[in-house]
Amino acid sequence: MIPALKSRTSPPSKTQKTVAPLLAWFAANARDLPWRRTRDPYPIWVSEIMLQQTQVKTVIPFWNRWLRELPTIEAAAHAPSAKIHKLWEGLGYYSRVRNLQKSAQLIVDRHGRRFPEQFDEVLALPGIGRYTAGAICSIAFNQPTPILDGNVIRVLTRVFGIAGNPKEKSINAQLWALAADLVSHARATGHGDYSCSAFNQSLMELGALICTPRGPQCQQCPLKRHCVAFKEDRTESLPHLGKRPTATVRRFLAFVIERKGRFLVRQRPDAGVNAQLWEFPNAEVGARGSDPLAVYAELRGLSPAQGNPESLQPLCTVKHSITRYRITLEAFLVRLPKNAGNSGGDWKTPAQMQKLAFTAAHKKLASAAAQSILTDR
Ligand code: ADE
Repeated sequence: MIPALKSRTSPPSKTQKTVAPLLAWFAANARDLPWRRTRDPYPIWVSEIMLQQTQVKTVIPFWNRWLRELPTIEAAAHAPSAKIHKLWEGLGYYSRVRNLQKSAQLIVDRHGRRFPEQFDEVLALPGIGRYTAGAICSIAFNQPTPILDGNVIRVLTRVFGIAGNPKEKSINAQLWALAADLVSHARATGHGDYSCSAFNQSLMELGALICTPRGPQCQQCPLKRHCVAFKEDRTESLPHLGKRPTATVRRFLAFVIERKGRFLVRQRPDAGVNAQLWEFPNAEVGARGSDPLAVYAELRGLSPAQGNPESLQPLCTVKHSITRYRITLEAFLVRLPKNAGNSGGDWKTPAQMQKLAFTAAHKKLASAAAQSILTDR
């Protein structure tokens, strides 16, 4: 007699075991974010671009305004450049919005106005890298495309006890492979309708709410039974981030020049940092003392004697950080006499300035400028 074959199902792998608890946790704990109420790729794409380098709570009002003003890909493709910059004003990293518009134009021209569904076609769009393409394809189309960003790296290195530097090529490849394995399991085990979408978002959400960089809430974590870092008390040392680049201090002087209720402003060139945004005349100076009068004269193309305006009063100091730069912007108010000759350039009233997109620091100067007129009169 032939003996009955024993069923030989292998025990579930650790990857398999993490999928179900994470999905169950997400179903019960996901934040109700506006872009989670749709499967339309356009608003999901906009959210992913805004969420690069920017926190959820900052993004929500910008996302709402963008979709109100530009509700379709076509509207985004055809919007004037000044409008898209104004809608992005305050979010920073403005190449994102220019790439968003370039992509919208490509979608109109080459994809018949429909957001492409093929991962490679999504990845080919300007401003969309592997993470963002994976996020859009999984969230909007439920494809098993992996995602790996800072939040996901934190979750995976801790749960799986991966001690190498995630920026190193082989470790990075290992993490992408793990993320791919996980999202494939989410699809294969058929947890609900949009399980790849839910699974990738559950990784992001766990990283944002529970598995935080400092003081993670391990007691609330659905993966604590499986987590190497929790069991071995290593959450502080994972992920292994290597050395941070050292911060660089930079100092700028800016001049808020007023004449007859208008201010002299300029638009930055089409390329480079903060391209096309508006600002007050300014110059970078050394970390230590530079004579504001001399800088003013040089900026205005005046001889040092001519550069001596009637008054040059300290207005305010704005500090901000971007990437590794710690920037201080010291602003001076310059009131030119009503009969001052040299008035070349763009002179704008506070109401006109409100319609222009300024860099974050210079927007503060624009408010101080408007205030200076009110308090003066
Ligand atoms: N971070 C990046 N993408 C996100 C998303 N879709 N929801 C919440 N946080 C995110």
